[in-house]
Amino acid sequence: MTTGTAPSHTPMDALLSTVKDVYLNTPALIDFAPWPARLENSGLGHRRMPAEPLITGFAETGTPETDAIVNAIKVASSDAYWTQTYTVEEVGQDFLNRYGYFELLGPTGHFYNDELRGYVGYWGEGLDYGWHNHEAEELYYCLAGEGLFKAEGEADHSLTASQTKYHSSFQKHAMSTSDKPFLCLAFWRGKGMRELPRMAS
Ligand SMILES: [Fe+2]
Repeated sequence: MTTGTAPSHTPMDALLSTVKDVYLNTPALIDFAPWPARLENSGLGHRRMPAEPLITGFAETGTPETDAIVNAIKVASSDAYWTQTYTVEEVGQDFLNRYGYFELLGPTGHFYNDELRGYVGYWGEGLDYGWHNHEAEELYYCLAGEGLFKAEGEADHSLTASQTKYHSSFQKHAMSTSDKPFLCLAFWRGKGMRELPRMAS
């Protein structure tokens, strides 16, 4: 007979497990970086952000694999440590009301590791996320909606569900949304993984 309680399976655990399943079955993701061998729950609590109702009410449909992640994000949203990197002076109040992200895995994320950072990011419709850059290499993975990407040295590129977009170290990039919001995962690898994106001057 065993005693004690089974480890609890939280909505954030369920989200991590859904993301891992898709990651391991998506060549573009697994080619970017291996899934971390060890992920330790760092015990991050909930931090509110204004856009939370837009996450729970998110209505765009993606692909079967991304919809599984979208549904898990909706459930985990009320446990997420939501973050906004930018100030009202940089991006304006409307942007801050309708954007946010949280670090699911990574050096300061819900699940600690220092090899791969994985964010959940949301932008409402009609927003301009201006030119910015960061040292870490980045791979966006669209879950649903649409993001219109600009990147230095490349043609403009629209990203929809299950599509990926790579940015090299310090490559300047910008993103805007038209009449649809954009929900994505963004993965970082390599040097600078502990830094934050900065608006380009
Ligand atoms: Fe970026």
